[in-house]
Amino acid sequence: MTKKIALIVGSLRKKSYTRAVGTQAAALLPKGFELVDMKISDLALYNQDFDDENQVPESWQRFRKQMADIDAVIFATPEYNRSMPAALKNALDVGSRPVGQSIWNGKPALIISVSPGNISGFGANHHLRQSLVFLNMPVVAQPEVYIGKVRDLLDDNLKIINPGTTAFLQTAINTFVDLVKRFS
Ligand code: FNR
Repeated sequence: MTKKIALIVGSLRKKSYTRAVGTQAAALLPKGFELVDMKISDLALYNQDFDDENQVPESWQRFRKQMADIDAVIFATPEYNRSMPAALKNALDVGSRPVGQSIWNGKPALIISVSPGNISGFGANHHLRQSLVFLNMPVVAQPEVYIGKVRDLLDDNLKIINPGTTAFLQTAINTFVDLVKRFS
C-alpha cells in the first residue's frame, strides 16, 4: 500500500535553500511513497486555552486532520539562533495536543538541516531531534544529514549541482524508507 510522507520545512521563505534541498531529497523517494507538502505557515501560535476551551483554530484542525493520514515525516530545517525556527516548533506543539491525541506518535522521521554556514544547522538538527524523541518518533540516526555551505551546492534556480550531495541524500532517503517499512 502507498505510504504517505509529509515534507515539513522550517523556513517560510519563498527562495528557501532548506525547501530546495528538502524537496529535492524527497523527490528521491521510490515508487509507492506519496509526498505531501505540509503547510505550517498559517498555523496559529499554540495556546492551550484554545484546546481546553474547545475553540480550536481552523488552521490547527486542518493540520491535525491532514497529519492523521500521514505515515512518516521528512523534516528539513534551517537554523535560527542555534535552534529550530519558531514556525517549526509551533507545528510540533500544535500537532502534539490535546494530550493523548498527538499526531506525531510512532511516526518515523528523517531530519535534514541546512545552512549557508559551516556548522550546517547542527543546533537546529539536535534541538529538533530532542523534541522528536519526546514525541515518540523513531528518527533516522545514521546518516545524520547536515547540509552546510549550501550556497556552494545549488545553482541560481536552487537546483543541487553537486552529485555527491545528491548521492548522500539518496543514502539518507534509502535509510528512511527502510525505517518506514520496519514500522509499517
Ligand atoms: C539565521 N541564520 C543562521 N544560520 C546558522 O547557520 N545558524 C544560526 O544560528 C542562524 N541564525 C539565524 C537566525 C535568524 C532569525 C535568521 C533569519 C537567520 C542564517 C540562515 O541560515 C539563513 O538565513 C538561511 O538562508 C535560512 O534558511 P532558508 O530560509 O534559506 O531555508
